[in-house]
Amino acid sequence: MNSRELVKTAREIMKNSYSPYSKFRVGAAVQTESGKLFTGVNIENASYGATCCAERTAVFKAVSEGEKKVKAVAIASDSDDFIYPCGICRQVIGEFGDRETRIICSKNNGEYREYKLEDLFPNAFNSDSL
Ligand code: THU
Repeated sequence: MNSRELVKTAREIMKNSYSPYSKFRVGAAVQTESGKLFTGVNIENASYGATCCAERTAVFKAVSEGEKKVKAVAIASDSDDFIYPCGICRQVIGEFGDRETRIICSKNNGEYREYKLEDLFPNAFNSDSL
């Protein structure tokens, strides 16, 4: 799936966002090495720290279905600005991706910018660090 289609998929799943506290809806679409697609939304909690971001929801869905190699992650929100993955999500994407994993950050109008994980998360602490 190309980047534009991944962004579209991320935008479509946003309708399932559970974000009654922030009212900030986020959707994510993850493509794995085998070509499978997994979607995710942010899922908030009255105990705010228990919230799970859309990107992590999608990555965890992929891993729990046996897909452990993430090739691309697209992110969408209602913001007029580009949305970028938070630090915790970069760490989680790094666990199942590599330097070349594509991170596609979009605006509410569908415009997107594409990065490699290495661009957004250089010098990561990972299994090679241990
Ligand atoms: N959020 C995401 O789902 N992904 C991001 O990349 C940034 C933030 C969510 C978490 C929370 O539900 C809401 O956006 C506001 O922080």
